[in-house]
Amino acid sequence: MSAGADPVLIVTAHQEFIDAAFDELKRFNTKLLYGELLAPGILLCTLPSDTHPHDLTSLARQAIQQRPIFVRHLAPVQAVIHLSNTENDIGELALAIANLPTFALLERGQRFAVQTRLLQTGIEAVRAGSNKHAYSSGHVNQMLAEAIAEETGAVESIKKPQVVVSLLCTIEKAYLGISLTTDNLSDWPGGARHFAYLPEQISRAEFKLLEALEVFGVTLPSQGMALDLGAAPGGWTRMLLEAGMQVVAVDPAKLDASLSRQPHLEHYRGYAEDYLEEAIKRRRKFNVITNDMRMDAREAARLLVQASACLLSDGFIISVLKLPHETSEIDPLKNLYEALRLLQRHFAIVQARQLFHNRQEVTVLTARPQLI
Ligand SMILES: C[S@@+](CC[C@H](N)C(=O)[O-])C[C@H]1O[C@@H](n2cnc3c(N)ncnc32)[C@H](O)[C@@H]1O
Repeated sequence: MSAGADPVLIVTAHQEFIDAAFDELKRFNTKLLYGELLAPGILLCTLPSDTHPHDLTSLARQAIQQRPIFVRHLAPVQAVIHLSNTENDIGELALAIANLPTFALLERGQRFAVQTRLLQTGIEAVRAGSNKHAYSSGHVNQMLAEAIAEETGAVESIKKPQVVVSLLCTIEKAYLGISLTTDNLSDWPGGARHFAYLPEQISRAEFKLLEALEVFGVTLPSQGMALDLGAAPGGWTRMLLEAGMQVVAVDPAKLDASLSRQPHLEHYRGYAEDYLEEAIKRRRKFNVITNDMRMDAREAARLLVQASACLLSDGFIISVLKLPHETSEIDPLKNLYEALRLLQRHFAIVQARQLFHNRQEVTVLTARPQLI
C-alpha cells in the first residue's frame, strides 16, 4: 500500500472483472488507488490521507447514478483493527463500531443490519499455518446486532436495512464501516444476492432473470407476448408463463417435460436466426424478448438489433452477453464495449450489469428501439 494513503473502500466484483470495477470507480475519483487484493474479487482501495470524507460519499453516490457494470458492492472502511482470532475480538469489534463517527446513523427505530464477511486470508496467519476463524459470520452478526440494538434503539432488519454495519475480517484484521444501504450499491453482503430455490424451478438460470428484473427495476407484464431465445431447458420460459404471458420459446433443444401441454406456449424447435427472419416477415410483435444463448456478445447484439423489429415500442429486452476469458490476445471488455456501442445506436435505453448470478457474462436491458 502506498505511503500517505488510507484504506477507504472495499470494492467487490466478479474475480475476473475486479480490475474493470476499479477502473469504473477511478473515473469518479482519479485519486483512488488500488490498495490490496484481499481475496479474489475483493479489493481494498485507498485515497490520499488528506482526502475529505465527503469525497468518498460523493464517489459512492456517483457510482449509484452512473450505474457501473462491474462494481457489485461497496463498503466504506472507517477503521481498521487488529484481531486476535479469539472470542475477545467480538468485544473489540463492538467497541470500534461504537467509536465510529457514523455510529450516529444508528438512530432509534432505524432499520439496520450487521454484514460480516470472513476471509480465510492474512499473511501472518497463513505463515503460522492457521487460517480458520474462531467464530462464524452469523455469530458475529448476531452478537453485534444485539449490542447495537440495545445501545441505540435501532431495529435489526436483515432483509430491508436502511443502515449497514459492514465488517470484513481477515484472520488478523477487521475493516469496519457504517453507511446508508443505498451507498453500498447492493443490500446484500458483498452484493451476493441469494434467492430461495423453488420446487417448480426448472434451471438455475431462473435466478439470473430474477436478479436482472430486480437490478433493472422492471417487472414482467401479466399479459402479452414474450419471445424467449435460447430457451431450453425452459427456466425463463416458465417464469414468463407464470407471469401470465404467451410465450414463443426458441431452441433446437428439448424443453423440460413440465412445460409440455402448456396452452400459452409455442416451442419453435430451431435456431433463433431462422425464427427471427420468419417473425419479421410475419410482422410478429412482442412485449418482452429474452435471450440466454451461448454466443459471442457482438453476435448476440447484432441479433438483438434484428429482434428490435419485433419489439413493441413500450417493450423491453433482457439478454445475456457472453464474454471470453481474458488471454494475452483476447480482451473480453473490447467485445463487450463493441456490443454495447451497437446496442446504443439502436436502442434509447441500454443498461448493463455483471450480476451476481452471471458467470463469464453480463446482462443487458434494452428498450425503446430507435428507428434508423
Ligand atoms: C444457458 S441455456 C438457456 C437456459 C434457459 N434460459 C433457462 O432458463 O433454462 C442456452 C441455450 O441456448 C441455446 N442456443 C444456443 N445457440 C442458439 C441459437 N442460435 N438459436 C437458438 N438457441 C440457441 C442452447 O441450445 C441452450 O439450450
